[in-house]
Amino acid sequence: MNLSEKVAIVTGGAGGIGKGCAEELLENGIKIHCTLQGVTIADVNDTLGKASAEELNQKYGSSKVLFVKTDVTNTESFENAFSKTIEAYGNVDILINNAGLMNEINWKISIQVNLIGVTIGSLLAIEKYFPKYKSGDKAYIINLSSIAGITPADFCPVYTATKHAVIGLTRSYGLNRHLLEKGIYVMALCPSSTDTPMKDYMRETARYKDLYDEAFAQFSSYFQKTTTIGKAAIRAMEDEDSGSAWFIKDEEIYKVKFPTLEQLIGTK
Ligand SMILES: NC(=O)c1ccc[n+]([C@@H]2O[C@H](COP(=O)([O-])OP(=O)(O)OC[C@H]3O[C@@H](n4cnc5c(N)ncnc54)[C@H](O)[C@@H]3O)[C@@H](O)[C@H]2O)c1
Repeated sequence: MNLSEKVAIVTGGAGGIGKGCAEELLENGIKIHCTLQGVTIADVNDTLGKASAEELNQKYGSSKVLFVKTDVTNTESFENAFSKTIEAYGNVDILINNAGLMNEINWKISIQVNLIGVTIGSLLAIEKYFPKYKSGDKAYIINLSSIAGITPADFCPVYTATKHAVIGLTRSYGLNRHLLEKGIYVMALCPSSTDTPMKDYMRETARYKDLYDEAFAQFSSYFQKTTTIGKAAIRAMEDEDSGSAWFIKDEEIYKVKFPTLEQLIGTK
């Protein structure tokens, strides 16, 4: 995949992994001597979103990054991110469904953002915007799952359920021949601990703080760079294995090997 001339939307791109993905898309364009046409940061946090867009525009060129205040749990708001992107850049080719949070106390919001938000974005991209506005014959959805999307985690069962659901959504879209016929590829990323503000509020919203503290002692030994997750997004797009999931730990990127149904079934 050539990243030149492409337009991307990154949800939750005001900071953390989303910003790392936006930055890596812009940086990768420069590396291959051409530029990504534009990136929209679609985030609820307008103070941080505007500041990050300004920072990236200063680094990569004044109209490369657009900020659109967006709540991914609201279809109209998500549509507004798509239409503002098309107004600004004419096309849309990549959707990074990154906005996500862990809140085991107010657990419904985790389901709303991590699952409903990803589903709203995917349906808008697949059914409405990619068919009409992709610049070439291919378009990509990258869904942020987690290590908690492929293994259970005792301290955050609801978060884990949403991230497993994102894997189910990605793998099922990956199998769907209607999407492949339209040139739409859907992949998931499963990062292990990454250096973002998320780690600062996870304990506050944990329901089992003792289990959280035990887990944190293990996963806090190393927090990887957010741009490594951006590199994984690019790797997944280059690989074009629709339905694939990519595990990222200690700055290394691995394709996940899912067991077959036969391998999953235990003894009678
Ligand atoms: N940080 C990690 O270790 C880690 C590991 C695995 C997976 N992830 C996943 O990566 C993604 C990004 O996480 P992060 O660590 O960068 O978190 P973060 O808290 O730093 O960033 C999340 C961003 O999402 C935005 N957001 C929240 N609700 C939103 C909504 N309704 N609409 C639009 N934007 C919204 C926030 O404003 C924030 O800018 C999440 O899906 C998270 O579950 C993170």
